[in-house]
Amino acid sequence: MIELTHIEKRFGDNVVLKDISVTIAERTVTALVGPSGGGKSTLLRCINLLEVPTAGTIRLGEEKIVFSPDKKTGWTEIQRLRRQTGMVFQNFQLFPHQTAIENVMEGLVTVLKWPKEKARARALELLEKVGMAHKTDAWPATLSGGQQQRVAIARALAPSPRVLLCDEPTSALDPELAEEVVDVLNRLAGEGTTMIMATHDLRLASKVADQVLFLDGGLIVESGAPKNIFQTPERDRTKKFISSLSAGNSYDI
Ligand SMILES: Nc1ncnc2c1ncn2[C@@H]1O[C@H](COP(=O)(O)OP(=O)(O)OP(=O)(O)O)[C@@H](O)[C@H]1O
Ligand SMILES: [Mg+2]
Repeated sequence: MIELTHIEKRFGDNVVLKDISVTIAERTVTALVGPSGGGKSTLLRCINLLEVPTAGTIRLGEEKIVFSPDKKTGWTEIQRLRRQTGMVFQNFQLFPHQTAIENVMEGLVTVLKWPKEKARARALELLEKVGMAHKTDAWPATLSGGQQQRVAIARALAPSPRVLLCDEPTSALDPELAEEVVDVLNRLAGEGTTMIMATHDLRLASKVADQVLFLDGGLIVESGAPKNIFQTPERDRTKKFISSLSAGNSYDI
């Protein structure tokens, strides 16, 4: 289980996350949607501690950290929690001087100290899972955006994280390439991968998510099943946002 309790994040005087409490069951997919600046990326970055919350509690499986303005969070604690997570970014962020398989092996070899052959076998298995086994030795620059993102997903999954965090995984991609990434994420969801993803892609959210959190102004304004949030939102802010998005795309949600 992933449990966030009263999470607050400030940048100086700017309170970006105000009071976020949510429980996420394992083997479920949660989509974070909402207007730009609402706090989606910051929330994801707080879960893997790329940003340290100002206050609140994060529980990720066995690991739990309580944050408070007068307590500095230790590096060991940060690493213990971060290792429970894998992160996928909008712009892939593959290591350009490593081949696809080397990218996937990297964390296993350097952080987890796996022997190379074991890491290579695991990486191959994951490249196969994301449909990239035919590009094992390709350089990132020679891959399409969709292919790069699928390698990035394999890399994030390599150490078997408890949760896969995805920040706008399809928004840098043309619709066709986005589709192949959606297919991979959908397959992972079907296999029981726990995922939290920020997305503007309502089609991705409605296809893959069990639960949608609508985030605005650093608060969860509304949450529920995709069907309810996208078709019969209750709060005015959610209604406005959904209608603005639906007007701008042709997706059937
Ligand atoms: N490192 C930072 N320093 C200062 N302010 C920040 C920092 N990171 C984010 N913010 C602020 O936090 C707020 C929330 O940003 P965030 O990136 O989480 O929004 P978002 O919902 O992901 O938006 P988008 O849909 O555009 O990706 C914004 O006002 C942003 O300017
Ligand atoms: Mg963002």
